[in-house]
Amino acid sequence: MSQDLLERREQIFGRGAHLFYQKPLTIVRGEGVYLYDENGERFVDMYNNVPCIGHCHPHLVDAINTQVANLNVHNRYLHDGILTYAERLVATHHDGIESVVMSCTGTEANEVAMLMARTITGGEGFICTDAAYHGNSAAVRQLTRARGSKNIKPIPFPESYRCEAEDRAQYLAFKTEGVKLAGMLICSLCANEGLPTIPHGFMGKAADMVRDAGGVVIADEVQAGLGRSGNWWGYEASDFVPDIVSMGKPLGAGVPLAATASSREYVEQFRRGSGYFNTFASSPLQAAAGNAVLDVFESEQLVSNSATVGTYLSEHLEKVNSRVAQIGDTRHQGLFVAIEWVESRDTKKPDREGAIRIVNRLKERGFLIGNAGAFGNVLKLRPPLVFAKEHADAFLDAYADVVNA
Ligand SMILES: Cc1ncc(COP(=O)(O)O)c(C=O)c1O
Repeated sequence: MSQDLLERREQIFGRGAHLFYQKPLTIVRGEGVYLYDENGERFVDMYNNVPCIGHCHPHLVDAINTQVANLNVHNRYLHDGILTYAERLVATHHDGIESVVMSCTGTEANEVAMLMARTITGGEGFICTDAAYHGNSAAVRQLTRARGSKNIKPIPFPESYRCEAEDRAQYLAFKTEGVKLAGMLICSLCANEGLPTIPHGFMGKAADMVRDAGGVVIADEVQAGLGRSGNWWGYEASDFVPDIVSMGKPLGAGVPLAATASSREYVEQFRRGSGYFNTFASSPLQAAAGNAVLDVFESEQLVSNSATVGTYLSEHLEKVNSRVAQIGDTRHQGLFVAIEWVESRDTKKPDREGAIRIVNRLKERGFLIGNAGAFGNVLKLRPPLVFAKEHADAFLDAYADVVNA
C-alpha cells in the first residue's frame, strides 16, 4: 500500500515533494495527541503544532460541521462570528494591538505585515535573521536564509550555543546604500533557526534600534504563538513589544486561518493604501474554527499546560541528555524543545545525519519528532498543546533507550 502510494505520489507531484522519515508513514486517523497509520499502529505526535488543541477535537469538529451546514461565504457581508473572533484574538495581545487583517496562511500574514510596514514608514528595507523562514511567496521568500540584497539585510540569529555570530555577520548597510528602513521581521522565538537561547534583552534592544532608525517591528508568531511558549505569544517569552504581529498555523487548528494585527491606525493606513481582499479570509468558517480553538484554549487551559508540561518534559530530558556525549544543548520554551545533536561537545559540530537517525528510531518506537534548525541537527519536539505528563513519561522512556543505544 505505502509503496503504491509512494509511486503515485512521485508520478503526480513529481519527485522532490518532501516526505518525513526513511520509511514514510501513511496516516489515516488522528485523535488528541495520537496519529494512527493504515495498520492501526498508534504514534504520539510530538511534531505538529497546527492541531494545537489535539487532532480532531470534537468541539472543533462540531463547530466546523455546524458552520458549513449553515453558511459559508466571503467577507463582504456583516457577520457576528468573525468580529467576535477578531476581538477575542486581539484581547490576547498587548494593548497596542487593536485591529486585524485576516488571511489564510502564514505567508500571507507576513506579506500583509511587510506591506503594512512599507505603507507606514515609506521605507523598503527589511532586517531578518540569516537562518529565517517566513513563507514561500516571491516577496516573503527573499527573507529565507537571506544572504543580503538591496532591500533585505540579514543579521546573525542570536545563537548563544555556538557564538559564531560575528563570522557570519553581514553588517547593516541600508544607510550607506540609501535604502529607507521599513522594519525588522523576526520570529519571536527564532523557531526555524533552531530555538536558540536568545540573550536576555536582545530582542528589546533590537526593537529599540529598529524604531530609532525609523522602522517598525514585526513579530512572526506563526510558529511561536498561541500558547506554544507557555505564554499566549512568543514575544512575551522573548520580552519585546512588537508593532505588528503575524499569526497563522495553529489559529484554525487545520482550517486555513491567519492574521496580521497592529494598532487601529496602522491597520487603517494599510487598508487605505492597499484595498486588500482575500477571498477565503474573514469567512464564517474561519470564525467558527478560530472561536472553537479559543474555546478549547480557555476550557482546557492550554497556555498553562504548555508551560507546566513543557518544563516537566525539558527538565527530565536534561537529566537524560547530560549523560549523552552527542548532545550539546537542550533548550525549551513551553512545549517546544530543541536538542542539539553534535559530533562532540568539544567541537559542537552539528551532526545532521545523527539527528535524522534519532528521528527515525523514535518513529519506530511510536513517537514522531523532527529535525530542524539552521544546521538541520536540532531534534525538534513541538507536540499539540494537549500533550500531558503521561505522554511525556512514555516518550522519556523510549527517548532514553534511543539516544543511549
Ligand atoms: C515562522 C514561520 N513563518 C511563516 C511560515 C509560513 O506559513 P505558511 O506555510 O502557512 O504560509 C512558517 C511556515 O513554516 C513559519 O515557520
